[in-house]
Amino acid sequence: MKQWIALAALAAVSLGSYAQAFPGNKPISIVVPFAAGGPTDRVARDLAEVMRKHVPGSNFVVENAAGAGGTIGATKVAKAAPDGHTLLLFHIGMAATPALYRKLGYKPLEDFEFLGMVNDVPMTLVGKPQLPANTYRDFENYIRANAGKLNIAHAGLGSASHICGLLWQTNMKTKEVMTTIPFGGTAPAMTALIGGQVDMMCDQTTNTTAQIEGGRIKAFAVTTAQPLSGHPVLKHYPTLQEMGMKGFNLTIWHGLYAPKGTPAAITKTLNEALKKSLKDPDFIKKNEALGALVVNDKRVEPEEHKKFVAAEMIKIKAAVDAAGKYAD
Ligand code: MLT
Repeated sequence: MKQWIALAALAAVSLGSYAQAFPGNKPISIVVPFAAGGPTDRVARDLAEVMRKHVPGSNFVVENAAGAGGTIGATKVAKAAPDGHTLLLFHIGMAATPALYRKLGYKPLEDFEFLGMVNDVPMTLVGKPQLPANTYRDFENYIRANAGKLNIAHAGLGSASHICGLLWQTNMKTKEVMTTIPFGGTAPAMTALIGGQVDMMCDQTTNTTAQIEGGRIKAFAVTTAQPLSGHPVLKHYPTLQEMGMKGFNLTIWHGLYAPKGTPAAITKTLNEALKKSLKDPDFIKKNEALGALVVNDKRVEPEEHKKFVAAEMIKIKAAVDAAGKYAD
């Protein structure tokens, strides 16, 4: 019995010393479960830059661990040492993957410490430059006439682009289903879209806005309930609700996570740094320029973040079970 008490005391001391020494001189990795250059990667790199200002002596770096709709990177962090040096930036996939993958390497509500939400990002329906349509109605008619011959790209089952494509196609009720083409992220999918190798995609405005503005891809609609009338580029596109898809409203959200068991002193330091970062004018401007909104409500608090994800998990599981389509 004595040695268990001694061991527990030792563990407490070492964890305590972890917390005292944090961040120390070891970099803090923000794991992005998608390919470099994509929308989640972009948010992570901007976040790493601003978080450095708010954790004295820290060096935040971004590490990409792509694949399987984000589940590979999320599993990596769930199994990482709980020392505050391995974090995860993940989006709606955190809530969707448990519904789609019946065999998953993590349980969101049990295997992670929630550090707070980061931003809300609308999605856009976009097509390759050669697509013979310039309005949503043209696009819709073209798809109704050719669905079986067309394809739609996404970043893996359970990814934001997959969920959006699935919800939109379900609402389209086309007779034939389009072929889906998975990528390790929407960065490589965007390259294929610009090159005309794939026909269309539903992707985050943080990845599409610059390409739309540059005329390298076509855009047809936004997935938010309200038009993005305040945005210089995205204000030109109707909402899917305006195009007749009653109640269609999809905005994806990003949150920050640490492995379960990360000392409370460290998660508190990271949450406080995150809250200061979310008030950083430069970080806010960067997000708004790409149609995203930095979170400034109760979801910046870990317990509210967790409640929000738990509610999203229930909502998405109901939709997935209703569709009866699983990733495994
Ligand atoms: C990415 O960063 O590639 C995206 O977040 C992928 C997705 O979920 O669509």
